[in-house]
Order: sequence, then C-alpha cells, then structure tokens
Amino acid sequence: MKESANILIVDDNSLNRKIASMVLGAGGYSNIMEMSNPADAFGWIENNQPDLILIDVSIQSTDGLKLLEGLCKRYDKDNIAIIVLTSVGDIEIRRKAFELGARDFVIRPFDTYELTARVDTVLRLKMDHDKIRHENRILTDKVAQRNEQLKLSNLGLIKGLGRAAELKDNDTGQHVMRVGLYSSILADGVGLSQEQVNYILQAAPMHDIGKIGVPDGILLKPAKLTDEEFKIVQKHCQIGAEIFLVNDISYIANSHPLKTLEHIYRQDSDLLRTAGIIALTHHEKWDGTGYPIGLKGEEIPIEGRITALADVYDALNTKRPYKDKYPLERCFEIIKELSGTHFDPRIVDEFCNFIEILFQIQKIYSDSPSLHSVF
Ligand SMILES: [Fe+2]
Ligand SMILES: [Fe+2]
Repeated sequence: MKESANILIVDDNSLNRKIASMVLGAGGYSNIMEMSNPADAFGWIENNQPDLILIDVSIQSTDGLKLLEGLCKRYDKDNIAIIVLTSVGDIEIRRKAFELGARDFVIRPFDTYELTARVDTVLRLKMDHDKIRHENRILTDKVAQRNEQLKLSNLGLIKGLGRAAELKDNDTGQHVMRVGLYSSILADGVGLSQEQVNYILQAAPMHDIGKIGVPDGILLKPAKLTDEEFKIVQKHCQIGAEIFLVNDISYIANSHPLKTLEHIYRQDSDLLRTAGIIALTHHEKWDGTGYPIGLKGEEIPIEGRITALADVYDALNTKRPYKDKYPLERCFEIIKELSGTHFDPRIVDEFCNFIEILFQIQKIYSDSPSLHSVF
C-alpha cells in the first residue's frame, strides 16, 4: 500500500512541507508531491487524483480551507481523503475542517509516529472504500448486462413466437413487421412514453400468435367460414393471451376473457403484459361490437386500440386470396369511415397525421401477396 500510494502535501511554508515529506518518506511512503499554492493544487489534483492530500490550514491563511471546501464539493467528501495540518491553538479551524469533509488532523510540530500512523489509517480506510466502490460498480455493471441479456432473450423468444404464428397463418412475415411499426408510430403520436412505444413495437407483431391454436382446416379454409368456424377462429385472442400468461401459476386456462385481462394486467414483465393485452384485445371495437369481450371506448386498452387500426389498415392495403389490395386513398377512406365505430377517433386522427410515414414503411417492408387474413 505504501509504495503505491500517491500523497500530495499542500503547504505555503516550504520548511513545514519538507518536514512532513521527510517524515512520511521515513515511514515508507515514496510517491510524495509537494505544492505551495492551494489554487495550483486544485488543477493538479484534477489531473493526478492522489490517494491522500495533506493540507495546511491556519488562522493566518484561509486558502487551505478554501481548497478543502472546493475539493470536498467537487469529489464528494466520501471519495477523497484529506488530512489537515494545524497548530495547537487552531481549534475552531479544525472543527470547520471536519465539517467541510477532512478525515483527520495532525497538529504541528509533528510527532513523527503520529503523522505516519494517521496517514496509514486514513489511507487504509480510503483504499477499502475505493475497493468496495469498485466492486459495487462491477456488480452494477454485471446486473445491467444480465438485464440486457434477459431483455434480448425475451425479445428473441417473442420474435420466434411471431415467426411460428406467421408460418401457421401462411403469412409472409412482413405483415407482422409492418403492424409493429405502424402501431409504434401511432403509439408515439397519441403521446405514450418512449418505453411504451418500444414495447408496442415489439409486442404488436404477436397480435395473432393465438392462431397457433386454431385448426389448419379452419384457419386456411379458402371458402367462407360457417358461424361455428368463425367462433373457433375468434378464440385466437384468448389463446394468444394465455400464451403470454405462462408464468402466472394462479391463472386457470379458458377463463372468461375478462378474467384473463385481469391476470395480464398483473404481469411483472412489461413486454409480456403488452403482448398479452394486444393479443387479447386487438379485435375489440370502439363501439363495443368487437370480440372476445365486447369492451367499449376507453375500456379497450390503448395498446389494443392502436394495434386494431394498424392491423386492419395493413390488411386493407395488402392483396389477400379473397380480395385485391385496395388503392391507398380507399384504405384511408375506410379507416376514416370506421372512426368512432371500429376505431378510437383519436387514433384515427393520429393515423391521418402520419399517413406519409406509414406509406414509407409500407414501401420498405413490402411483400409478395399475403395469405394472411384479418378475422
Ligand atoms: Fe387477430
Ligand atoms: Fe394481422
């Protein structure tokens, strides 16, 4: 410790500086810097960060106290080790120095043993403190790294699920990407936080994940569905939500969708909660005629309202086996016509504000004719 410790002595009296330096040298310290001017010392400390600073403080000169005060403010007194050198009568000065952040004091004329012992103690405390701080920083970095890895693996799993749903639905994959992007633009437009916007961007592509649980014979049927078959398809909302409730051991599968929604809201993971909400509510309609619950207006979670519009807009704008792609103007007209019935009017307004951006996204993420269907 002694060989590697950097010590700075700040004292305008050269004899006092020399004595302190010699005593510490005899005590085993070899890296000792001496400075006479407190103002110069401040800049030197900034660049060299010594392990311990000895500052002369006295009634005659207040520069030492000023340096002490400045250093304790700049570095936080817990992170800098300062011992003040005073005279016998300077009781007030010593009290003030402690208040400002000095760790200890030594009275002149020095007892050589005492000066070295006090420097040893303060340095050891400082080094222990630095070690703990360093270890805490490593620990904090590791936790942040693990959290990032966890987020990435969550995201990877979610994306994988999305791909599985696309394969099942015979989709090209670009549809779900576009729905995610459109939804995030709309989420930003209605004023959701950047965090919520990101969760929606990641979760909206999963809106139809529940179609994994719908038999192929019905899902890919080229003809019109019977009422019974349509009811089975509608279950994809509930199935999708349950996929994102895997960690909820108190949840009973096939509960009423309202119960499912309650459980989704209790999810700890923001991403899984958002994904569950979207899977369950992306077919709800503003006027209460949607499914699976029949929620009305703002009873429908904002994430579901946003994804509903993005999903329908993309379906209108894409060629499907049972219909051609609508001209762009017609897509906008239909969305506007459905404002207040199918869609939240506020989100339709935002949609109109971002038409140009949505159009650009569509061009970048265009695909070959999709077989995906919006039931
Ligand atoms: Fe759907
Ligand atoms: Fe869709």
